[in-house]
Amino acid sequence: MKNFEFQNPVKIIFGKGEISKLNTVIKQQQKVMIISYKDEKFTTGKIMQQVKSALKSYEIVEFFRVEANPEYELLLEAIKLAKEEHVDFILAVGGGSVLDATKFTSICSANNWDNNWDEVFVNDMKNSVGALPFGCVMTLPATGSEMNNGFVISWRAKGYKNDYFGPFYTYPQFSIIDPETTYTLPAKQTANAIVDSFIHVVEQYVATYTGSDVQDYISTALLRSIYENAQIVLKDPTNYKGRANLCFSATMALNGLLRTRHTADLSVHFMGHQLTALYGIDHGASLVPIQIANFRLMKDVKKDMILHMGRHVFDIIDGTEDQRVEQTLTMVEDFFAQTGVPTKLSHYENIDKSNYIDKVMELLHQHNLVPVGELSISEEKAREILALAY
Ligand code: NZQ
Ligand code: ZN
Repeated sequence: MKNFEFQNPVKIIFGKGEISKLNTVIKQQQKVMIISYKDEKFTTGKIMQQVKSALKSYEIVEFFRVEANPEYELLLEAIKLAKEEHVDFILAVGGGSVLDATKFTSICSANNWDNNWDEVFVNDMKNSVGALPFGCVMTLPATGSEMNNGFVISWRAKGYKNDYFGPFYTYPQFSIIDPETTYTLPAKQTANAIVDSFIHVVEQYVATYTGSDVQDYISTALLRSIYENAQIVLKDPTNYKGRANLCFSATMALNGLLRTRHTADLSVHFMGHQLTALYGIDHGASLVPIQIANFRLMKDVKKDMILHMGRHVFDIIDGTEDQRVEQTLTMVEDFFAQTGVPTKLSHYENIDKSNYIDKVMELLHQHNLVPVGELSISEEKAREILALAY
Protein backbone atom coordinates (compact mmCIF):
# COMPACT_ATOMS: atom_id res chain seq x y z
CA MET A 1 0.00 0.00 0.00
CA LYS A 2 1.30 3.46 -0.89
CA ASN A 3 1.41 6.46 1.46
CA PHE A 4 -1.74 8.58 1.44
CA GLU A 5 -3.71 11.31 3.14
CA PHE A 6 -7.49 11.10 3.33
CA GLN A 7 -10.01 13.49 4.82
CA ASN A 8 -13.66 13.89 3.91
CA PRO A 9 -15.78 16.43 5.82
CA VAL A 10 -19.26 15.72 4.40
CA LYS A 11 -22.05 14.86 6.84
CA ILE A 12 -24.22 12.19 5.25
CA ILE A 13 -27.84 12.02 6.44
CA PHE A 14 -29.25 8.85 4.96
CA GLY A 15 -32.71 7.30 4.86
CA LYS A 16 -36.47 7.58 4.47
CA GLY A 17 -38.02 10.87 5.53
CA GLU A 18 -34.71 12.55 6.35
CA ILE A 19 -35.37 15.63 4.18
CA SER A 20 -37.36 16.91 7.17
CA LYS A 21 -34.02 17.40 8.98
CA LEU A 22 -32.99 20.25 6.66
CA ASN A 23 -33.83 22.83 9.32
CA THR A 24 -31.38 21.17 11.70
CA VAL A 25 -28.42 21.48 9.34
CA ILE A 26 -29.03 24.95 7.88
CA LYS A 27 -28.80 27.71 10.48
CA GLN A 28 -32.04 29.57 11.24
CA GLN A 29 -32.35 33.15 9.88
CA GLN A 30 -30.31 32.31 6.80
CA LYS A 31 -31.34 33.32 3.31
CA VAL A 32 -31.28 30.11 1.30
CA MET A 33 -30.99 29.89 -2.46
CA ILE A 34 -32.39 26.59 -3.77
CA ILE A 35 -30.91 25.38 -7.05
CA SER A 36 -32.81 22.69 -8.94
CA TYR A 37 -33.90 21.44 -12.37
CA LYS A 38 -36.35 23.42 -14.43
CA ASP A 39 -38.74 20.51 -15.00
CA GLU A 40 -42.11 20.80 -13.26
CA LYS A 41 -41.74 17.47 -11.47
CA PHE A 42 -38.99 19.17 -9.49
CA THR A 43 -40.18 22.77 -9.22
CA THR A 44 -43.51 21.78 -7.69
CA GLY A 45 -43.16 18.01 -7.12
CA LYS A 46 -43.10 15.90 -3.98
CA ILE A 47 -39.37 16.31 -3.25
CA MET A 48 -39.57 20.12 -3.44
CA GLN A 49 -42.69 20.08 -1.26
CA GLN A 50 -40.76 18.20 1.43
CA VAL A 51 -37.85 20.66 1.11
CA LYS A 52 -40.08 23.71 1.38
CA SER A 53 -42.00 22.25 4.27
CA ALA A 54 -38.74 21.73 6.20
CA LEU A 55 -37.61 25.28 5.33
CA LYS A 56 -40.91 27.10 5.84
CA SER A 57 -39.44 29.59 8.29
CA TYR A 58 -36.53 30.52 6.00
CA GLU A 59 -36.28 33.23 3.37
CA ILE A 60 -35.95 31.39 0.04
CA VAL A 61 -34.57 32.43 -3.35
CA GLU A 62 -35.21 30.02 -6.24
CA PHE A 63 -33.03 29.17 -9.21
CA PHE A 64 -34.95 26.32 -10.87
CA ARG A 65 -33.31 26.33 -14.30
CA VAL A 66 -30.63 23.63 -14.37
CA GLU A 67 -30.58 20.92 -17.05
CA ALA A 68 -28.33 17.87 -17.42
CA ASN A 69 -24.63 18.81 -17.90
CA PRO A 70 -24.85 22.28 -16.32
CA GLU A 71 -24.08 25.13 -18.64
CA TYR A 72 -21.53 27.82 -17.81
CA GLU A 73 -23.50 30.69 -19.34
CA LEU A 74 -26.63 29.81 -17.39
CA LEU A 75 -24.65 29.61 -14.17
CA LEU A 76 -23.42 33.17 -14.64
CA GLU A 77 -27.05 34.11 -14.02
CA ALA A 78 -27.17 31.96 -10.88
CA ILE A 79 -24.02 33.69 -9.60
CA LYS A 80 -25.52 37.13 -10.31
CA LEU A 81 -28.70 36.19 -8.43
CA ALA A 82 -26.79 34.84 -5.44
CA LYS A 83 -24.78 38.08 -5.21
CA GLU A 84 -27.75 40.42 -5.74
CA GLU A 85 -29.84 38.62 -3.14
CA HIS A 86 -26.95 38.32 -0.66
CA VAL A 87 -27.80 34.69 0.01
CA ASP A 88 -26.13 32.97 2.95
CA PHE A 89 -26.49 29.36 1.90
CA ILE A 90 -27.13 27.39 -1.30
CA LEU A 91 -29.14 24.17 -1.28
CA ALA A 92 -28.95 21.82 -4.28
CA VAL A 93 -32.05 19.68 -4.84
CA GLY A 94 -31.32 17.19 -7.61
CA GLY A 95 -28.59 14.95 -9.02
CA GLY A 96 -25.00 15.52 -10.11
CA SER A 97 -25.80 18.33 -12.54
CA VAL A 98 -27.64 20.37 -9.91
CA LEU A 99 -25.01 19.80 -7.25
CA ASP A 100 -22.12 20.57 -9.62
CA ALA A 101 -23.97 23.74 -10.67
CA THR A 102 -24.28 24.61 -6.99
CA LYS A 103 -20.58 24.06 -6.28
CA PHE A 104 -19.62 26.30 -9.20
CA THR A 105 -22.13 28.99 -8.17
CA SER A 106 -21.06 28.92 -4.56
CA ILE A 107 -17.35 29.26 -5.28
CA CYS A 108 -17.79 31.96 -7.95
CA SER A 109 -20.21 33.96 -5.76
CA ALA A 110 -17.73 34.08 -2.92
CA ASN A 111 -14.83 35.35 -5.05
CA ASN A 112 -14.41 38.68 -6.76
CA TRP A 113 -13.99 37.29 -10.21
CA ASP A 114 -15.33 38.33 -13.56
CA ASN A 115 -16.73 34.82 -13.67
CA ASN A 116 -14.11 33.99 -16.18
CA TRP A 117 -13.90 30.40 -17.42
CA ASP A 118 -10.11 30.53 -17.54
CA GLU A 119 -9.99 31.77 -13.95
CA VAL A 120 -11.79 28.67 -12.78
CA PHE A 121 -10.45 25.99 -15.03
CA VAL A 122 -7.09 27.16 -16.32
CA ASN A 123 -5.67 29.01 -13.32
CA ASP A 124 -6.71 26.15 -11.06
CA MET A 125 -8.77 28.38 -8.80
CA LYS A 126 -5.55 29.30 -7.06
CA ASN A 127 -6.84 32.78 -6.34
CA SER A 128 -10.08 31.59 -4.76
CA VAL A 129 -10.56 32.38 -1.11
CA GLY A 130 -13.60 30.31 -0.20
CA ALA A 131 -17.12 29.41 -1.20
CA LEU A 132 -20.62 30.16 0.01
CA PRO A 133 -21.65 27.31 2.29
CA PHE A 134 -23.83 24.76 0.54
CA GLY A 135 -25.50 21.40 1.04
CA CYS A 136 -27.66 19.06 -0.95
CA VAL A 137 -30.69 16.85 -1.19
CA MET A 138 -29.43 14.18 -3.58
CA THR A 139 -32.03 12.61 -5.90
CA LEU A 140 -29.87 10.54 -8.27
CA PRO A 141 -27.31 7.95 -7.10
CA ALA A 142 -24.58 8.23 -9.71
CA THR A 143 -21.86 10.85 -9.62
CA GLY A 144 -20.77 10.79 -5.96
CA SER A 145 -20.83 14.60 -6.08
CA GLU A 146 -22.76 14.48 -2.78
CA MET A 147 -19.59 13.40 -0.97
CA ASN A 148 -16.77 14.88 -3.03
CA ASN A 149 -15.30 18.25 -3.93
CA GLY A 150 -15.55 17.84 -7.70
CA PHE A 151 -17.71 19.53 -10.29
CA VAL A 152 -18.12 19.26 -14.03
CA ILE A 153 -19.28 22.27 -16.03
CA SER A 154 -20.03 22.47 -19.76
CA TRP A 155 -19.73 25.39 -22.14
CA ARG A 156 -21.46 24.14 -25.24
CA ALA A 157 -20.67 27.19 -27.38
CA LYS A 158 -16.99 26.24 -27.12
CA GLY A 159 -17.52 22.47 -27.02
CA TYR A 160 -16.03 22.33 -23.50
CA LYS A 161 -16.85 19.99 -20.64
CA ASN A 162 -14.31 20.37 -17.85
CA ASP A 163 -14.03 18.73 -14.48
CA TYR A 164 -12.45 20.31 -11.47
CA PHE A 165 -11.67 18.74 -8.12
CA GLY A 166 -11.53 21.84 -5.98
CA PRO A 167 -10.14 22.91 -2.64
CA PHE A 168 -11.57 21.80 0.70
CA TYR A 169 -14.45 24.27 0.69
CA THR A 170 -16.03 22.71 -2.40
CA TYR A 171 -17.27 19.72 -0.40
CA PRO A 172 -20.95 20.01 0.58
CA GLN A 173 -21.50 20.67 4.29
CA PHE A 174 -24.09 17.89 4.28
CA SER A 175 -25.92 15.63 1.86
CA ILE A 176 -29.35 14.23 2.58
CA ILE A 177 -29.95 11.00 0.69
CA ASP A 178 -33.48 9.60 0.85
CA PRO A 179 -33.60 6.53 -1.42
CA GLU A 180 -37.35 7.02 -1.93
CA THR A 181 -36.62 10.17 -3.95
CA THR A 182 -35.08 7.92 -6.62
CA TYR A 183 -38.32 5.94 -7.21
CA THR A 184 -39.37 8.48 -9.83
CA LEU A 185 -36.21 8.20 -11.93
CA PRO A 186 -36.95 7.30 -15.55
CA ALA A 187 -35.53 3.85 -16.48
CA LYS A 188 -32.87 5.52 -18.63
CA GLN A 189 -31.55 7.61 -15.71
CA THR A 190 -31.56 4.59 -13.38
CA ALA A 191 -29.45 2.73 -15.95
CA ASN A 192 -27.10 5.71 -16.43
CA ALA A 193 -26.65 5.90 -12.67
CA ILE A 194 -25.89 2.18 -12.32
CA VAL A 195 -23.19 2.20 -15.01
CA ASP A 196 -21.67 5.51 -13.86
CA SER A 197 -21.19 4.38 -10.26
CA PHE A 198 -19.94 0.94 -11.38
CA ILE A 199 -17.36 2.57 -13.68
CA HIS A 200 -16.25 5.00 -10.94
CA VAL A 201 -15.17 2.00 -8.88
CA VAL A 202 -13.69 0.13 -11.85
CA GLU A 203 -11.57 3.10 -12.94
CA GLN A 204 -10.01 3.50 -9.51
CA TYR A 205 -9.64 -0.20 -8.66
CA VAL A 206 -9.06 -2.12 -11.90
CA ALA A 207 -5.74 -0.53 -12.80
CA THR A 208 -2.51 -2.08 -11.55
CA TYR A 209 -1.92 -4.05 -8.33
CA THR A 210 -0.74 -1.90 -5.39
CA GLY A 211 -1.18 -4.27 -2.44
CA SER A 212 -4.02 -2.08 -1.13
CA ASP A 213 -6.22 -4.90 0.17
CA VAL A 214 -8.50 -2.61 2.18
CA GLN A 215 -9.33 -0.37 -0.77
CA ASP A 216 -9.54 -3.37 -3.13
CA TYR A 217 -12.02 -5.28 -0.96
CA ILE A 218 -14.10 -2.13 -0.41
CA SER A 219 -14.15 -1.84 -4.21
CA THR A 220 -15.34 -5.41 -4.67
CA ALA A 221 -18.04 -4.90 -2.02
CA LEU A 222 -19.27 -1.82 -3.88
CA LEU A 223 -19.21 -3.56 -7.28
CA ARG A 224 -21.09 -6.59 -5.89
CA SER A 225 -23.63 -4.31 -4.26
CA ILE A 226 -24.18 -2.34 -7.46
CA TYR A 227 -24.37 -5.53 -9.55
CA GLU A 228 -26.78 -7.37 -7.24
CA ASN A 229 -29.03 -4.42 -6.43
CA ALA A 230 -29.18 -3.36 -10.08
CA GLN A 231 -30.83 -6.73 -10.82
CA ILE A 232 -33.47 -5.91 -8.19
CA VAL A 233 -34.13 -2.29 -9.17
CA LEU A 234 -34.20 -2.88 -12.93
CA LYS A 235 -37.16 -5.24 -12.30
CA ASP A 236 -38.72 -3.43 -9.32
CA PRO A 237 -37.96 0.34 -9.34
CA THR A 238 -39.63 0.97 -5.98
CA ASN A 239 -37.73 -1.69 -4.06
CA TYR A 240 -36.35 0.21 -1.03
CA LYS A 241 -33.53 -2.20 -0.25
CA GLY A 242 -32.32 -2.10 -3.86
CA ARG A 243 -32.55 1.69 -4.17
CA ALA A 244 -30.89 2.27 -0.78
CA ASN A 245 -27.90 0.12 -1.64
CA LEU A 246 -27.49 1.70 -5.08
CA CYS A 247 -27.59 5.13 -3.42
CA PHE A 248 -24.99 4.40 -0.77
CA SER A 249 -22.74 2.53 -3.23
CA ALA A 250 -22.73 5.53 -5.57
CA THR A 251 -21.86 7.86 -2.69
CA MET A 252 -18.99 5.66 -1.49
CA ALA A 253 -17.70 5.04 -5.02
CA LEU A 254 -16.34 8.55 -5.56
CA ASN A 255 -15.72 10.10 -2.15
CA GLY A 256 -11.91 10.02 -2.31
CA LEU A 257 -11.43 6.79 -0.35
CA LEU A 258 -10.63 4.57 -3.35
CA ARG A 259 -8.25 7.17 -4.79
CA THR A 260 -5.92 6.34 -1.90
CA ARG A 261 -4.88 3.25 -3.93
CA HIS A 262 -3.12 5.87 -6.08
CA THR A 263 -3.06 3.81 -9.25
CA ALA A 264 -6.18 4.41 -11.33
CA ASP A 265 -7.19 4.86 -14.96
CA LEU A 266 -9.64 7.74 -15.32
CA SER A 267 -9.21 7.79 -19.11
CA VAL A 268 -12.73 6.45 -19.62
CA HIS A 269 -14.19 9.54 -17.97
CA PHE A 270 -11.87 11.91 -19.84
CA MET A 271 -12.97 10.43 -23.18
CA GLY A 272 -16.63 10.17 -22.15
CA HIS A 273 -16.74 13.86 -21.23
CA GLN A 274 -15.62 14.82 -24.74
CA LEU A 275 -18.34 12.58 -26.24
CA THR A 276 -20.95 14.38 -24.14
CA ALA A 277 -19.55 17.78 -25.13
CA LEU A 278 -19.59 16.85 -28.82
CA TYR A 279 -22.69 14.69 -29.16
CA GLY A 280 -24.83 15.35 -26.05
CA ILE A 281 -24.70 11.72 -24.87
CA ASP A 282 -25.81 11.29 -21.22
CA HIS A 283 -22.83 11.10 -18.87
CA GLY A 284 -23.22 7.47 -17.70
CA ALA A 285 -24.01 6.26 -21.21
CA SER A 286 -20.97 8.05 -22.66
CA LEU A 287 -18.67 5.83 -20.59
CA VAL A 288 -19.95 2.36 -21.45
CA PRO A 289 -18.61 1.80 -25.02
CA ILE A 290 -15.28 3.34 -23.96
CA GLN A 291 -14.97 1.20 -20.81
CA ILE A 292 -15.64 -1.99 -22.79
CA ALA A 293 -13.05 -1.08 -25.43
CA ASN A 294 -10.56 0.05 -22.78
CA PHE A 295 -10.79 -3.31 -20.99
CA ARG A 296 -10.27 -5.20 -24.24
CA LEU A 297 -7.20 -3.17 -25.27
CA MET A 298 -5.68 -2.68 -21.79
CA LYS A 299 -6.31 -6.17 -20.43
CA ASP A 300 -2.64 -7.14 -20.32
CA VAL A 301 -1.74 -4.06 -18.21
CA LYS A 302 -4.79 -4.57 -15.95
CA LYS A 303 -4.66 -8.37 -15.81
CA ASP A 304 -4.03 -8.75 -12.04
CA MET A 305 -6.94 -6.55 -11.11
CA ILE A 306 -9.29 -8.02 -13.74
CA LEU A 307 -8.59 -11.43 -12.20
CA HIS A 308 -9.23 -9.94 -8.73
CA MET A 309 -12.57 -8.51 -9.91
CA GLY A 310 -13.51 -11.81 -11.54
CA ARG A 311 -12.85 -13.76 -8.34
CA HIS A 312 -14.35 -11.34 -5.79
CA VAL A 313 -17.22 -9.76 -7.74
CA PHE A 314 -18.38 -12.50 -10.13
CA ASP A 315 -17.05 -15.65 -8.35
CA ILE A 316 -14.97 -16.66 -11.39
CA ILE A 317 -12.37 -19.12 -10.10
CA ASP A 318 -12.10 -21.90 -12.69
CA GLY A 319 -9.94 -21.99 -15.82
CA THR A 320 -6.64 -20.54 -16.92
CA GLU A 321 -5.84 -16.88 -16.24
CA ASP A 322 -6.66 -15.96 -19.84
CA GLN A 323 -9.99 -17.79 -19.66
CA ARG A 324 -10.87 -16.04 -16.39
CA VAL A 325 -10.00 -12.62 -17.84
CA GLU A 326 -12.24 -13.39 -20.81
CA GLN A 327 -15.13 -14.58 -18.58
CA THR A 328 -14.83 -11.49 -16.37
CA LEU A 329 -14.88 -9.03 -19.27
CA THR A 330 -17.87 -10.86 -20.75
CA MET A 331 -19.71 -10.60 -17.38
CA VAL A 332 -19.10 -6.83 -17.32
CA GLU A 333 -20.24 -6.42 -20.93
CA ASP A 334 -23.38 -8.51 -20.32
CA PHE A 335 -24.14 -6.45 -17.20
CA PHE A 336 -23.90 -3.18 -19.13
CA ALA A 337 -26.12 -4.61 -21.88
CA GLN A 338 -28.64 -5.75 -19.28
CA THR A 339 -29.11 -2.17 -18.04
CA GLY A 340 -30.18 -1.16 -21.55
CA VAL A 341 -27.40 1.42 -22.00
CA PRO A 342 -26.00 1.23 -25.57
CA THR A 343 -22.68 -0.62 -25.63
CA LYS A 344 -21.45 0.76 -28.98
CA LEU A 345 -21.00 4.34 -30.21
CA SER A 346 -22.52 3.26 -33.55
CA HIS A 347 -25.89 3.30 -31.73
CA TYR A 348 -25.84 7.13 -31.77
CA GLU A 349 -26.97 8.45 -35.15
CA ASN A 350 -25.35 11.87 -34.70
CA ILE A 351 -21.83 10.42 -34.41
CA ASP A 352 -20.11 10.65 -37.79
CA LYS A 353 -17.87 7.60 -38.11
CA SER A 354 -15.52 9.42 -40.50
CA ASN A 355 -14.37 12.10 -38.03
CA TYR A 356 -15.42 11.42 -34.41
CA ILE A 357 -12.01 10.07 -33.40
CA ASP A 358 -10.24 13.20 -34.65
CA LYS A 359 -12.77 15.42 -32.90
CA VAL A 360 -12.43 13.64 -29.53
CA MET A 361 -8.61 13.66 -29.82
CA GLU A 362 -8.62 17.37 -30.66
CA LEU A 363 -10.55 18.18 -27.47
CA LEU A 364 -8.35 15.91 -25.37
CA HIS A 365 -5.29 17.76 -26.71
CA GLN A 366 -6.93 21.14 -26.07
CA HIS A 367 -7.38 20.16 -22.40
CA ASN A 368 -3.84 18.74 -22.13
CA LEU A 369 -5.21 15.25 -21.49
CA VAL A 370 -2.90 13.28 -23.84
CA PRO A 371 -1.39 10.84 -22.86
CA VAL A 372 -4.76 9.98 -21.34
CA GLY A 373 -5.22 9.06 -17.68
CA GLU A 374 -2.86 7.76 -15.03
CA LEU A 375 -1.77 4.78 -17.13
CA SER A 376 -0.59 7.27 -19.79
CA ILE A 377 -2.61 5.90 -22.71
CA SER A 378 -0.84 7.10 -25.85
CA GLU A 379 -2.48 8.97 -28.71
CA GLU A 380 -2.28 5.81 -30.81
CA LYS A 381 -3.87 3.60 -28.14
CA ALA A 382 -6.57 6.19 -27.40
CA ARG A 383 -7.48 6.19 -31.09
CA GLU A 384 -7.65 2.38 -31.05
CA ILE A 385 -9.96 2.47 -28.01
CA LEU A 386 -12.24 5.01 -29.69
CA ALA A 387 -12.31 2.92 -32.89
CA LEU A 388 -13.16 -0.30 -31.03
CA ALA A 389 -15.90 1.53 -29.10
CA TYR A 390 -17.81 2.25 -32.34
O1 NZQ B 1 -34.47 17.50 -15.96
P1 NZQ B 1 -35.45 16.47 -15.49
O2 NZQ B 1 -36.38 16.01 -16.53
O3 NZQ B 1 -36.10 16.85 -14.22
O4 NZQ B 1 -34.62 15.13 -15.18
C1 NZQ B 1 -33.58 15.05 -14.24
C2 NZQ B 1 -32.26 15.26 -14.92
O5 NZQ B 1 -32.30 16.02 -16.08
C3 NZQ B 1 -33.56 13.60 -13.83
N1 NZQ B 1 -33.72 13.36 -12.39
C4 NZQ B 1 -32.80 13.55 -11.40
N2 NZQ B 1 -33.27 13.09 -10.24
C5 NZQ B 1 -34.53 12.60 -10.49
C6 NZQ B 1 -34.81 12.80 -11.86
N3 NZQ B 1 -35.97 12.43 -12.43
C7 NZQ B 1 -36.88 11.85 -11.63
N4 NZQ B 1 -36.68 11.62 -10.31
C8 NZQ B 1 -35.53 11.98 -9.71
N5 NZQ B 1 -35.31 11.69 -8.42
O6 NZQ B 1 -32.33 13.06 -14.23
C9 NZQ B 1 -31.79 13.88 -15.25
C10 NZQ B 1 -30.28 13.73 -15.24
O7 NZQ B 1 -29.79 14.33 -14.05
P2 NZQ B 1 -28.27 14.78 -13.89
O8 NZQ B 1 -28.18 15.56 -12.64
O9 NZQ B 1 -27.79 15.40 -15.15
O10 NZQ B 1 -27.56 13.35 -13.77
P3 NZQ B 1 -26.27 12.91 -13.00
O11 NZQ B 1 -26.52 12.83 -11.55
O12 NZQ B 1 -25.85 11.69 -13.70
O13 NZQ B 1 -25.22 14.09 -13.23
C11 NZQ B 1 -24.49 14.19 -14.43
C12 NZQ B 1 -23.48 15.32 -14.34
O14 NZQ B 1 -22.53 15.08 -13.28
C13 NZQ B 1 -21.19 15.11 -13.82
C14 NZQ B 1 -21.41 14.63 -15.24
O15 NZQ B 1 -20.33 14.91 -16.08
C15 NZQ B 1 -22.66 15.41 -15.62
O16 NZQ B 1 -22.36 16.76 -15.92
N6 NZQ B 1 -20.29 14.31 -12.99
C16 NZQ B 1 -19.92 14.84 -11.81
C17 NZQ B 1 -18.99 14.21 -10.99
C18 NZQ B 1 -18.58 14.79 -9.69
N7 NZQ B 1 -19.08 15.95 -9.31
O17 NZQ B 1 -17.77 14.21 -8.98
C19 NZQ B 1 -18.33 12.94 -11.38
C20 NZQ B 1 -19.09 12.21 -12.45
O18 NZQ B 1 -18.24 11.27 -13.05
C21 NZQ B 1 -19.65 13.11 -13.51
O19 NZQ B 1 -18.66 13.49 -14.47
ZN1 ZN C 1 -19.03 9.52 -13.79
